[in-house]
Amino acid sequence: MIKTQTNKEADIKSDFPIFKNNDIIYLDSAASAQKPNLVINSINDVYSNYYANINRGVYTLSQIATDKYEDAREVVKEFINAESSKEIIFVKGATEAINLVASSVSEIKLKKNDEIILSRLEHHSNIVPWQISAKKYGAKIKIAESDENGNVSCEAVMKEVSPKTKFICITHISNALGTILPVKEICTEAKSRGIYTLIDGCQAAPLLGIDVQDLGCDFYVFSGHKTYGPTGIGVLYGRKEILSETPPYQGGGDMIDRVTFEHTTYADIPSKFEAGTPNIAGAIGLGEALKWMKKIGMKNIHKHSQKVISDGLNILGNIKGIRIIGEPNNRGGVISFLYKNIHPHDMGTLLNSYNIAVRTGHHCAQPTMDRYKISSTVRASIGYYNTKSDFEALAEGILKVSKVFEKN
Ligand code: ALA
Repeated sequence: MIKTQTNKEADIKSDFPIFKNNDIIYLDSAASAQKPNLVINSINDVYSNYYANINRGVYTLSQIATDKYEDAREVVKEFINAESSKEIIFVKGATEAINLVASSVSEIKLKKNDEIILSRLEHHSNIVPWQISAKKYGAKIKIAESDENGNVSCEAVMKEVSPKTKFICITHISNALGTILPVKEICTEAKSRGIYTLIDGCQAAPLLGIDVQDLGCDFYVFSGHKTYGPTGIGVLYGRKEILSETPPYQGGGDMIDRVTFEHTTYADIPSKFEAGTPNIAGAIGLGEALKWMKKIGMKNIHKHSQKVISDGLNILGNIKGIRIIGEPNNRGGVISFLYKNIHPHDMGTLLNSYNIAVRTGHHCAQPTMDRYKISSTVRASIGYYNTKSDFEALAEGILKVSKVFEKN
């Protein structure tokens, strides 16, 4: 029997219109988070009340839109405690942010035979861009291995370091297993050796309070849509000393200082990396999402998530026949599992028929799957709106699926 929601739980969900319109058990926030009213309304507000292109018009509407866009940059700066808002580049998402660094920073940093260290637990978007750069510059990729439980220690990363190491690019939280990596320790070690660090913060930005100065990373990336913001917007944080020296990623309007047919000089950061009309409404919506999270408090969000994930682990762990994939020392908002010999896609499809949304597959982390000699898992991941009752519903769903298979 699924427990009824408490008033407090209902209150959080009532901020999210999707839960009013659909009684879905949504356990796929690692793929994308649902959007609170504030974010949806802010996007409506942009297009209804002050939409115009930015950085171009002398007229009031354009000035308001420009100010709001730049306000959003300030919000991001505060959210991750960057030293300067010039260090905040708006991009399409974390994937574009990593491609930008792998492509443009590599131009000034990477030479033949240099080395790039990735962890076993990377999402494909923190693997493939580096493979492309490695191929272009004749560099080599080395892997910091995870242990059987899905931990990647600082020692495992440092073991791969050599005088040729130029980048260490690691996830803050694994999207497939939920492992929280010791990124601060790794960044400290890397910094003392002059190695650039890039942290994929997609799963961490919605969950942990991020302080890039405290972490000591050179680059930190995250996507807006996983932080309760819109799709098509994301953030690249980069230390200004590096970004100032880095050549542009794309050419076009807004990123220039002076253009002639013979020669172009570029704008200062952040504009140098924001060619063309950006996602204006997306950036403003993202700003609202981050403000919404800050208002709740990142400590509260993290605490809530730890409680729900710990309840979820207990509930799922008590189901006979379940195998939790990865038992990391520190876990974010993700639980991956297999159930008996039921294929994850069958499990996900049947759970969907009970209106339970989970992700199934390799989660764009095939090397992580390879570590366990499996091709896919069922993954339940949470946002601030999830509660213990969602895992109770999931457990009921799994048992119903089991019965369907017993009958056949
Ligand atoms: N990277 C997203 C996920 O883990 C899409 O599902």
